[in-house]
Amino acid sequence: MSRVAYVNGQYHPHGQATIHVEDRGFQFADGVYEVWSVFDGRMADFDGHMTRLHRSLDELQIRGLMSREALMRVLHETIRRNRVVEGLVYIQVTRGTARRDHPFPPEGTPPSVVVTARSLPLSKGNASAAKGVAVVTHPDLRWGRCDIKTVGLLPNVLAKQAAKEKGASEAWMVDDMGLVTEGSSTNAWIIDENGKLRTRDTQANILRGITRAAVMALIEAEGLELEERAFTVDEAKCAREAFYTSASGYVMPTVSIDGTTIGDGKPGPIATRLRTLYLEQARRDAI
Ligand code: PDD
Repeated sequence: MSRVAYVNGQYHPHGQATIHVEDRGFQFADGVYEVWSVFDGRMADFDGHMTRLHRSLDELQIRGLMSREALMRVLHETIRRNRVVEGLVYIQVTRGTARRDHPFPPEGTPPSVVVTARSLPLSKGNASAAKGVAVVTHPDLRWGRCDIKTVGLLPNVLAKQAAKEKGASEAWMVDDMGLVTEGSSTNAWIIDENGKLRTRDTQANILRGITRAAVMALIEAEGLELEERAFTVDEAKCAREAFYTSASGYVMPTVSIDGTTIGDGKPGPIATRLRTLYLEQARRDAI
């Protein structure tokens, strides 16, 4: 099926969509991105991702993106033109095109905007969730502003590749103190031996996951106990349950860490319930 990409005001066949060789995203990773999951052709957690996009842009002083309303139209149109019913829509905004020089380009240089969308059937994720997935640990080699969703993802790429080479679905990154920070493209969670949910505090240099926030609200509504506190790899290995959250994986039960089986090696009841609740809510509230 032919795909279409939006680039700076125009829709192009995917294979012919290009940006300039001196785009700052290409040369310096000087840009940010967002990913929304799509249900029935509509975006889940729309406001959360849109607000985080603008926060990332503000933090990096990248200015001149179109209005939220205009951007929403572009996102919807890209989903529509790609006939995505279940899948993902991606936006990347960079500091634009300018002769290669480290300082910011002149005031008024327009940002580059790329939007793509692709199908990702929920049935595929559901099959993984029904079995549970494996994660491995990997050193966290990133910078000090992981709250900004930049396209500078090389440490994340290396961590995910290491996971793939070990037959795992995700890498949980570990800081110098032996504490899990987050996944290479997900937030990491455990349910400890006392039945308390644990995930790292977002003040501690991780991405403020939008799915994480939605799941936190569900945890509260379910009357479950939650502590925003980092956990060690050993604590994770001894956990009753583990899972990770993201716009592309929703809530993904995790059944092994570095080859150690979690719980009874099957997706845990709480992770499974949170996945069901999250998917119901995401679909219902998608716009
Ligand atoms: N990743 N942590 C990191 C490092 C991430 O890159 C992501 C998202 C998350 C989860 O955030 P959210 O729930 O808002 O999707 C946590 C996206 C999906 C990606 O890179 O494709």
